[in-house]
Amino acid sequence: MIVTTKDLFRHAYGKYAIGAYNINNLEQIVGLFRGNLGKSKENSDPSDVTASAPFIIQISRGSRSYTDKAFLEGMIRTADEVFPDAIFAVHLDHGTEEVCYDCINSGFYSSVMIDASHEEFAKNIEITKKVVDKAHAKGIVVESELGQLGGVEEDIVGSVKLTAPAQAAEFIAKTGVDSLAVAIGTSHGAFKFSGKQGLHFDVLEKIQKAIPKDFPLVMHGSSSVPHEWVERINNAGGKLKDASGVDEKQYLPAAKLGVTKINIDTDGRLVWCAIHREHFRDKPEDFDLRPAGKEFMQAYAEYIKHKNSMLGSSGQLESVRKSLAGSGGKSCGCGCGCK
Ligand code: G3H
Ligand code: 13P
Ligand code: ZN
Repeated sequence: MIVTTKDLFRHAYGKYAIGAYNINNLEQIVGLFRGNLGKSKENSDPSDVTASAPFIIQISRGSRSYTDKAFLEGMIRTADEVFPDAIFAVHLDHGTEEVCYDCINSGFYSSVMIDASHEEFAKNIEITKKVVDKAHAKGIVVESELGQLGGVEEDIVGSVKLTAPAQAAEFIAKTGVDSLAVAIGTSHGAFKFSGKQGLHFDVLEKIQKAIPKDFPLVMHGSSSVPHEWVERINNAGGKLKDASGVDEKQYLPAAKLGVTKINIDTDGRLVWCAIHREHFRDKPEDFDLRPAGKEFMQAYAEYIKHKNSMLGSSGQLESVRKSLAGSGGKSCGCGCGCK
């Protein structure tokens, strides 16, 4: 069942975070649904549901143009039929104004992100507000970003790109946005930290105090870049030197401070890369895509199950279902009080 991110955040706020996973192809979609439903293989033991979790499917602009974007919609709708227990949001990741409007008008996305974080504060407000107005008119919810995520080469601690708490409050009030991505020390990709840096919980705490009560925050660039997967890639011919990510043990403390959506893309790519490199290294005579694809779907499902246990979303699915039923099963992001 497709719901809005707002529906999911209401249940999760202050307790756990929802995993927001980027997808690009069929194998990722199948692995993702299986992992969130606590099943890693086809015909898995039906009692294996302890890890069942609500989740967010993220579609980036790059994913939309990888093949025809219509394929993504078709595959996700089919997954919704094949896994009828699933509860998830379909979210545009890092949208421009134009792509947001395309998704809002498509009738498929339940949530969009307008990323105008590279613009001046006033311009970011202006663009976000326009998208919010159009999205809310159709019951779609909006995430926006304030501050800029750092790169490994930048001095993140002293950077003015970390989200300023007072600006966050003003931004939320002036835009009417439903959730806000904040820069608190993470960066996109596999090379996040050069030393022992981590999240800036002090900044996160100040943001949470400055903004409205229970307002959902989002953390981008949250892959943990597990050493084990990087090593597997490098042992199979890869060259990922000095890759490092966010400590998974920081997910739950961040959730307690209002982070309800945690974005993970890079880790899925690492799993894909390791499995395929190892497969063809160990079976050099093989040229069939399906055996490696099957191994990947299983490994990715296991990885998602693990990730959800670190996010605290494991085992929350039935409680989310009940809370949605309690709100009349309606899914509306319009802020009209119809719940
Ligand atoms: O934050 C960006 C995501 O990792 C999406 O990456 O644009 O290469 O699909 P992509
Ligand atoms: P990672 O690169 O850490 O996986 O972050 C993904 C992300 O923020 C997608 O929006
Ligand atoms: Zn991102």
